[in-house]
Parts: sequence; C-alpha cells; structure tokens
Amino acid sequence: MNLNRQLRLKARPAGVAMPGPDTWEIVEADVPEPAQGQVLVRNLYVSVDPAMRGWIRPAPTYIEPVPLGGVMRAGTVGRVVASRRADFAEGDHVSDVAGGLGFQDFGLSDGSELLKVDPLRAPLPSYAGGLGLNGFTAYFGLLEIGRPKAGETVLVSSAAGATGSVAGQIARIKGCRAVGIAGGPQKGRLVREVFGFAEAIDYRDGNVGEAIADACPGGVDVFFDNVGGGTLDAALMRLNRLGRVVVCGTMSQAGANGEAVRAHLRLALVHGRMEGFIAFEYASGFREALDELLGWREQGLLKAQEEVVEGFDVLPECLDRVFAGKNFGKMVVRIGQDAG
Ligand SMILES: NC(=O)c1ccc[n+]([C@@H]2O[C@H](COP(=O)([O-])OP(=O)(O)OC[C@H]3O[C@@H](n4cnc5c(N)ncnc54)[C@H](OP(=O)(O)O)[C@@H]3O)[C@@H](O)[C@H]2O)c1
Repeated sequence: MNLNRQLRLKARPAGVAMPGPDTWEIVEADVPEPAQGQVLVRNLYVSVDPAMRGWIRPAPTYIEPVPLGGVMRAGTVGRVVASRRADFAEGDHVSDVAGGLGFQDFGLSDGSELLKVDPLRAPLPSYAGGLGLNGFTAYFGLLEIGRPKAGETVLVSSAAGATGSVAGQIARIKGCRAVGIAGGPQKGRLVREVFGFAEAIDYRDGNVGEAIADACPGGVDVFFDNVGGGTLDAALMRLNRLGRVVVCGTMSQAGANGEAVRAHLRLALVHGRMEGFIAFEYASGFREALDELLGWREQGLLKAQEEVVEGFDVLPECLDRVFAGKNFGKMVVRIGQDAG
C-alpha cells in the first residue's frame, strides 16, 4: 500500500450530540518518510474509546482538542515498517496508547510513547484494550487510588466493559470480593462466568441501591466507578467508613450538560475519599503494568474480550454501540493486515 488513508475531523458535533457520518472524512495522503530519530508505523488496530467524544469537543479538558482537519487521535497497535532509531527495528510490534499515531494507516513517532508488544504472548487486539489503555487505567486506578486490601469488597460499575472488567479481575487477584454492575443478564453472565466477579448486579432491572445492599452485605470498601449519576449515588449510600471511590469515568453523564448534582456526594466526605485520575498521569509505569498484566494473563487469572470490527468508516457506529451499552468487551477496529 503506498497511500495513507487518514480519518480527519471534518466538523465538531453540536453540543453534546453523538458524532455522525459527517463528523469525519477519509482522506488519502502520501505515506510519510521517517526522519532521523523517527519510526514509521503501519497501524493495524484502532482502539475505540468513549473519550473520543471529548477529544473532538472544542474546549480542552485534560488534553488539547483534535483540530478541525487534523487526523483523529486514537490509540493504535501496529508494526514498525521503517526505523531510523536504534531502539526499534522493522517488524517490531508496538502500541501507542496515547493516540499520537492517530486513526490512519501510517504514522510517525519519535518512539517516546510507543510500547513494544509481543503478538506471541497475546493477540494484537488485546493490546488495544485490556493490555492497553483500559488495562493501565484499571491497574493504576484500582491499585493507586482504590488501594484494595485482601478481604475487602470492591464494587465496579460498567463491569462488563473494557476497563471495568480488568478492574474487577485485579481486585479478585488481590484477594478482594469483586461485585460488578452491568446492564442486562447477558453482561451479568459475562461478569460472573468469564471475568470471575463474585456477583453481578443488573442496574437496568430494579433498584440498584437495594441490589448493591444485597450483593455487598458488609458494605463497599472500594467503588471503581465508570458511570457516575444514580449508580454513584447508590454506591455512596453503601460506602464503608474509610472507603475509597475511584472516579474513572462518567458514562451516564456523557449526553448531559453537566447540571446533575449528586444527592449523596456528602457521603464521600463523611466516609472516605473520592479521587479522579487520568491514566496518562501514570504513563511512566505503563511498561511495568503491561508486564504484570501479561503475567496474570499467562497464569489464566486475567481474561480479556474484544469485539473487533473491520473498516475505516465505522467509528461513528462503534461509538454508538459503546454509548448504547451494546459492546461486549473492548471495541477495536481492524484497519490493516499483519504481515508478520
Ligand atoms: N480515567 C481515565 O484515564 C480513563 C481511561 C479510559 C477510560 N475511562 C473511562 O472509563 C469508562 C469506561 O470506558 P471503557 O472504554 O472501558 O468503556 P466500556 O465500559 O467498555 O463501555 C462503556 C459502557 O458504559 C456503559 N454505559 C453506557 N451508558 C451508560 C449509562 N447511561 N449508565 C450506565 N452505564 C452506561 C455500557 O455498559 P452497560 O451495558 O453495562 O450499561 C457501555 O458498554 C468511560 O467513562 C471512559 O471514559 C477513563
């Protein structure tokens, strides 16, 4: 292939609207040449992240917005096809969780944000999810902020999802009782039978607060929260003294305009601590985290599930699936064929 397909931002969705078919356009550009100190990567898999909605909004949050006309920021896994760096060789597989290579066939990097990954130790799409940003988010959020102790109860929302499923499994590995909240009976089975949580709560069926009380009779020591809103309120009601709330994501607030006031926020003040974080704050530890996650995987302690979709124009429908809760595991887009 001698052309570089790029997914470029064409128009920002109005307000909090979902991206649609007019949000991005596919442009064919030349394949760039690496300068001294750079590597050229053929991207093979692209990570679909809820955060992409934030990255294309006009106001910067924790990261600069993708400029209009710019290549869409996206975490990728690919193969080095040309290297002018001593530490990367042609044929190396790499992941770029920070998303600088972007949603395009070929991207240039100075190597600083690339992690070498081994397709013999895990399938390449897993490095875009449970062994990529989602795994690192779960790892640092739970271990650094949640600080679970053996015997404690760890409650996780969006527990069937890419991040939540890893958080619950790490809690279990650390000797905690993991309880997951997910939408629908099929996800409940995934949470219990594949990811090994002790119990699964279907927040769409009945009163989530009562279900948390039933599933966590000793209360909640750590709440790893991916959704916010009413689920956060309900979990705060059950938070034990000196409990920790890891604010990882706010899926339920994504389409809202930020007006929601949490009725039970005071309980975080009374009982414990509530702390948000951005996984990139821990970037210097990603290599170490990947090695530990891979070790758990090889011992059969950590399972990952990916839903791989083909195509270059599928990002809007992939994001729709994630925000509608229709994804089962991590959504990944395959845009290239591995030669290795
Ligand atoms: N802090 C960080 O650095 C960081 C890094 C990565 C991700 N995140 C955040 O972590 C969260 C999960 O991301 P992910 O990539 O792992 O996605 P995911 O959990 O695989 O998928 C998102 C899930 O959210 C649930 N959901 C959607 N709308 C909801 C609503 N209104 N109420 C409750 N649940 C809802 C759905 O599951 P159900 O079917 O179970 O409802 C959906 O499958 C996101 O908020 C993301 O932004 C944070």
